[in-house]
Amino acid sequence: MFKPDVYKQRRKKLVKDLGSGLVLLPGNEDAPMNYRANTYHFRQDSSFLYFFGIDQQGLAGLIDLDDDQHMLFGNDAGIDDIIWMGPRPSILSLGERAGTDKCFPYNDLGKILKQAIASKRKVHYLPPYREERMLRIEAWLGIHHTEVTRRASPELIKAVVDQRSVKSEEEITEIDKAVNVACEMHTTAMKMAMPGVYEREIAGRVEGISLAHGNPVSFPVILSVQGQTLHNHYHGNMLKKGHIMVTDAGSETSMRYASDITRSVPVGGKFLPEQRDIYEIVLSALQASIDTIKPGIPYRDIHLKVAGIIAQGLKDIGIMKGDPSEAVHNGAHALFFPHGLGHMLGLDAHDMEDLGENHVGYDDEIKRSDQFGLAFLRLGRRLQKGFVITSEPGIYFIPALIDKWSSEGKFKDFINYNIAESWKSFGGIRIEDDILVTSDGCRVLGKPIPKTVAEIEHTMSSPVSS
Ligand code: GLY
Ligand code: MN
Ligand code: MN
Repeated sequence: MFKPDVYKQRRKKLVKDLGSGLVLLPGNEDAPMNYRANTYHFRQDSSFLYFFGIDQQGLAGLIDLDDDQHMLFGNDAGIDDIIWMGPRPSILSLGERAGTDKCFPYNDLGKILKQAIASKRKVHYLPPYREERMLRIEAWLGIHHTEVTRRASPELIKAVVDQRSVKSEEEITEIDKAVNVACEMHTTAMKMAMPGVYEREIAGRVEGISLAHGNPVSFPVILSVQGQTLHNHYHGNMLKKGHIMVTDAGSETSMRYASDITRSVPVGGKFLPEQRDIYEIVLSALQASIDTIKPGIPYRDIHLKVAGIIAQGLKDIGIMKGDPSEAVHNGAHALFFPHGLGHMLGLDAHDMEDLGENHVGYDDEIKRSDQFGLAFLRLGRRLQKGFVITSEPGIYFIPALIDKWSSEGKFKDFINYNIAESWKSFGGIRIEDDILVTSDGCRVLGKPIPKTVAEIEHTMSSPVSS
């Protein structure tokens, strides 16, 4: 945990921003996999972590905005908990670490909230993403569970997004650490990407590296020679020469800050000419984004700039045609780049996505587009110093999408379908870095991870140590 004062100051800022009522921030519980005692790996709620810092089940935080009282609710471990799961710190000592004013047994929370509702006080809460949380809020606040999401507090969402979007020095240090573990995960994956190896062998090793550093991966490992499936979690293919392997994987730190990195490499260690052509387009798009990122620029504009580079690059090799900027304006490039350039990164790989993508990535000035491709851009608003974001351009040949658009005759002025046809077995290429917006530009976080053709081929020329 950070020092108690860090959490206290974060909560005090909420008090200042919101003014009146109560802020309810429940922590997460263990979630059963197939029976109650067999649980998924525990993951604390990120906003609870941000404001209270305690990475433990069975807790809730409550802030009384009117008298600036910060309360922690939870139970001390009973003898059964100690026998099965071991001793844990008392609730009082946890409260001290979080800088709270008072601690209560968990069941007192319902009583205090019922009194607040009876006195017509406003209780601000965030939209829940677990059904169990909805039922608890229903019981605590008397809101029918089907109404719980709709009645989440817009003021609290905004205050939380405003704070969590701008990372402090200590948070940036954590994300740097998370990228450094990802560096080891990705260089190992590259070295293992040889013909005859199964994806699962590499995916297991990649996840194991994160675990061996003491922490889980920050999202399920995406690793596939079928990289045209954007979030491919199937790891059963054997690698063959001619395949491109896409690995999109990151690690959490012990403070739960995430990395989210993608690299795409040729199986066997040498890019074929057509793989290299596509790779260089994606790499130049990523580099152009890095050269452009700075405070004040809407990320939507950088997404569109990258889309233009991709359209121009695909035109140069004959897959697209016509004016690239017109193609991008109309959305034709999205046949090959059907997702957004990136998103916020922090305590979540898609930071704060539980609070609503539009609250995090858009604002009154910049609204989400409904055009295919651009609609999937998670972050469109103007960048600010202290944002940590991903840039992750890609080019994919998705046979079902090529067939669909081709049969519909869609964007025939911009796409050479007869040529695209011959690329349908290519797969995909994505390259993703984690980037801090600085006062006058940006910094790619963590140790450099091999990225150019030469760096990747060099890394892949020495085998992985067992
Ligand atoms: N790892 C998912 C993403 O890059 O957004
Ligand atoms: Mn990723
Ligand atoms: Mn990402």
